[in-house]
Amino acid sequence: MSVTEQLKQEHQLILNYISLMEQYINHADTSLLLSNAESFIAFIHDFADSFHHAKEEDVLFRYLEAPNVLAHCNPIPQMLFEHNKARELVNAMKSAVAEANTDGLLMTVRQYAGLLREHIFKEDNILYPMAERGLSDSVKAALLTEYAEIEQKLNSAEIWEKYQSLYLELAERLN
Ligand SMILES: [Fe+2]
Ligand SMILES: [Fe+2]
Repeated sequence: MSVTEQLKQEHQLILNYISLMEQYINHADTSLLLSNAESFIAFIHDFADSFHHAKEEDVLFRYLEAPNVLAHCNPIPQMLFEHNKARELVNAMKSAVAEANTDGLLMTVRQYAGLLREHIFKEDNILYPMAERGLSDSVKAALLTEYAEIEQKLNSAEIWEKYQSLYLELAERLN
């Protein structure tokens, strides 16, 4: 029983968007990023933050912080710090868009991409394996039930469909 498989799939979509953001950053026409920034911000807000980070913060991290789960070190404060840093960067992106500040937007998107890539690497390779080792099957079953509740509340099928098709549209606009 895995409690991180779905989260890893969510990471893959986030990483796909990050690669796309980087293609927009490096595109000869720098106005493309500014004109599509609201779509990227919507994805980050609705999928990466409200959906994925909520499942981590409200469910997984809570279970991992129970006594005796994390044996040697506790990476969760650092993960939370990075989630908050990502939120600050999204606010900075919104301000840059409002001011039509292309250079500021390029810089912020680049920082966000770097932060999230490293964050996801740490979760996939350090935190998630700790969770798989440290949680018992009965705890994992309870955790999966809580994920399912969040997924139902936030309409997971709809959110996936919406942002997978937005990804294809944004990729198409680069051509
Ligand atoms: Fe995270
Ligand atoms: Fe994550």
